[in-house]
Amino acid sequence: MAQDRLIRWALSVTSLTQEQQQACLAFTALLPPAEQTRIRKFVHTVDALRSLVGQLLARLAILSFLPAGTRWAEVEIQRNDEWKPYLVSPAVPNLLFNVSHQGDWVVLLAGHAQLLGVDVARTEMTAAQKLSSYFSYFPHVFTDREWEYIRGYRKTDDEEGCAEELPTGAFHVDLAILPESQVQQLHRFHQMWALKESYIKAIGRGLDANLRHIEFSVPEGHVISLDPGHVEREITLSVDGEEKPECLLTLSYLDALHPIATCHVRAATAGPGQPAAPLAGDEDGQWFKERTWAELESSIRKVQ
Ligand SMILES: CC(C)(COP(=O)(O)OP(=O)(O)OC[C@H]1O[C@@H](n2cnc3c(N)ncnc32)[C@H](O)[C@@H]1OP(=O)(O)O)[C@@H](O)C(=O)NCCC(=O)NCCS
Repeated sequence: MAQDRLIRWALSVTSLTQEQQQACLAFTALLPPAEQTRIRKFVHTVDALRSLVGQLLARLAILSFLPAGTRWAEVEIQRNDEWKPYLVSPAVPNLLFNVSHQGDWVVLLAGHAQLLGVDVARTEMTAAQKLSSYFSYFPHVFTDREWEYIRGYRKTDDEEGCAEELPTGAFHVDLAILPESQVQQLHRFHQMWALKESYIKAIGRGLDANLRHIEFSVPEGHVISLDPGHVEREITLSVDGEEKPECLLTLSYLDALHPIATCHVRAATAGPGQPAAPLAGDEDGQWFKERTWAELESSIRKVQ
């Protein structure tokens, strides 16, 4: 059904050339004044680009659900008290979007829904010399059962050790020097992280969310494929012990390092706004469609 159409876009900000970065930053002027100020305050260009590209993608996605001829300036987006951006005008019931940016990627999920959340994570180990000390930073995030999944249901012998001595002071640990079982644990850690964020972003919460009340389950023995072509849908969610079968969860990979989770609760009734013709190249079978800067730029120019 048309109302069920979701847009899933991904754009790699780290692959933009210097020239493209400058062209992109010039589009800051298309955002509301408060957002312009925010973008200009970022110290690192890549951080400004991630947030800016997210906001540009969000507006283009919204426009693609509005009647043809709707202009960029007619789309008004504000942030709620939890800082979550939402569509104010044109008022279209149930038309939602959510953005995530991490590592190389900015991703967007949009469509008619009751709840919609997305999170992209980067599989990495930061500021720790051992996997166990890295994990010990996050006792409040995962339930015992989630930790069992992350650790592989059996504590492995090499959890404390490293294949080689890690360089002291290194912020990002090179995954290539970790034993394979630890790399797999890091993958599972970031899969769970992305799932949890996709739900707390869908419900519009932030740091105040009680993360251990939210539990994701991957069927025991199930191995999540890192293949970007694969979309995992066997994961379930319970909140305060109550199953949430209405939450449609997916886990997939944009590339071997970036898991991406989506959380979607279908709209009970579809809003009046029907999707207009999709932007060129929307529906080609890719789960998250990779958008290029050239496509983004030309799409924006057409609706200005
Ligand atoms: C938004 C939040 C929920 C996620 O932050 P994050 O993972 O760093 O950010 P992401 O890259 O996934 O998403 C950022 C985008 O989400 C959107 N966003 C901001 N606040 C949001 C909220 N409360 N709910 C949903 N979306 C939100 C915005 O579009 C934002 O981009 P922008 O501010 O640059 O325009 C964060 O505020 C937070 O509180 N995170 C919890 C951190 C934590 O302890 N996580 C543990 C694992 S679950």
